[in-house]
Amino acid sequence: MLAALGKHAQANKPQPFLKQAFHKPSTINQQTPNSSMPRLYCDNAATSFPKAPGVAEAMLKYLTECGAPAGRGAYRSALEAQSIIDQCRLKVGRFFNAPPDRFVFTLNCTDSLNLAIRGLLKPGDHVVTTLLEHNSVLRPLAWLQQTLGITQTLLTPNQQGWIEPADLRAALRPHTRLVITTHASNVTGVIQPIDDLGTICREAGVIYLVDAAQTAGILPLDMSSQPVDILAMAGHKGLKGPLGTGLLYIRAGLDEEISPWRLGGTGLASEDLAPPTAGPARFEAGNQNLPGIAGLSAALDWLAGQSLKEIQEREQFSRLGWQIALSTFPGIRLILPESSSVNILSVTAEGFSPHDLAVIFEQEYGMEARPGLHCAPLCHQWLGTLPTGGTLRVSGECVPRDDEHLKFHNLSR
Ligand SMILES: Cc1ncc(COP(=O)(O)O)c(C=O)c1O
Repeated sequence: MLAALGKHAQANKPQPFLKQAFHKPSTINQQTPNSSMPRLYCDNAATSFPKAPGVAEAMLKYLTECGAPAGRGAYRSALEAQSIIDQCRLKVGRFFNAPPDRFVFTLNCTDSLNLAIRGLLKPGDHVVTTLLEHNSVLRPLAWLQQTLGITQTLLTPNQQGWIEPADLRAALRPHTRLVITTHASNVTGVIQPIDDLGTICREAGVIYLVDAAQTAGILPLDMSSQPVDILAMAGHKGLKGPLGTGLLYIRAGLDEEISPWRLGGTGLASEDLAPPTAGPARFEAGNQNLPGIAGLSAALDWLAGQSLKEIQEREQFSRLGWQIALSTFPGIRLILPESSSVNILSVTAEGFSPHDLAVIFEQEYGMEARPGLHCAPLCHQWLGTLPTGGTLRVSGECVPRDDEHLKFHNLSR
């Protein structure tokens, strides 16, 4: 496999495309993917594929049999459309154990994070966050630093890749309004101790926002018992719904503290020029992504029949499989392989840029994995991988169909 590839890398006369891989600037990005190679999708951290059974059918059913907007009329198909939204919200509430009206439908996790961060923060606020965050946290904060004069403290993870609760406690200030941490890094996969971090926030009376982009649908999240005030999620990753779907959980009592940044029609109290003061309608102005929500609803039906414990076991199994398969490549470095993680494994290989590694793996094995900085530049800076273009991130299926890593391993022999 990789052994074969490794042989090429060490040979005096490497194959032309491998030879090119050693030179910078890279020219191997001119190569077109080998279309006869079966596809090995390993970019589930970006969006999951395949989607849950029933998702495509539910979307098609909405588009071909309903097609009406929700909340805007009393005719039969408009009511059907509203019922798709209501049913989906009910299922979301059940899945995360909180009242359904605590969940807002959004476009993606970026949208959820922007809504919360930009809606909450006011001039002079202090925020504590971490080097592990995605740009959908870092960029809104940088923007608000410039435009509102907020200040921020960035926590550095320990050597295992997680944030020490004591560091959070030490970083809190009297005017800290918000703490934001990811639940699992999208570069290393390492799971963060959100219960301990959230308990510190509760004790200090600070709002705790968790970015669950990489964990919703994979790790248990119970909003009735966990100390999380706001939870930002994608509908299209671990929840296995379609792109264009996201969710934001806001605990009761916080709605009025968050300014909606999209104002418009809600189908309710149209005579009033002010937005609703509470509930999802405060944040959901405009027509909803009904095909997406119909798909997400079907995904939640499927998830309800799964055991989260088994999903996590399969995640562990899959990550371990990738560790074994990838570690046979000469010069490979696995990033934090021993830490408790979701199914994300970042690697670098001596003599190859992450981009070139991705091209080679796709050419040779059909692997579709993601090279670069993964929109988490500070995490790569901390890992020391920023100057060399980041890592290659392999995120196999949340629920592997047929042990994809073994297929990869066998192919590479
Ligand atoms: C940790 C993290 N937060 C936020 C996002 C943004 O998610 P979305 O693509 O749904 O906007 C991602 C995307 O990969 C992510 O990994």
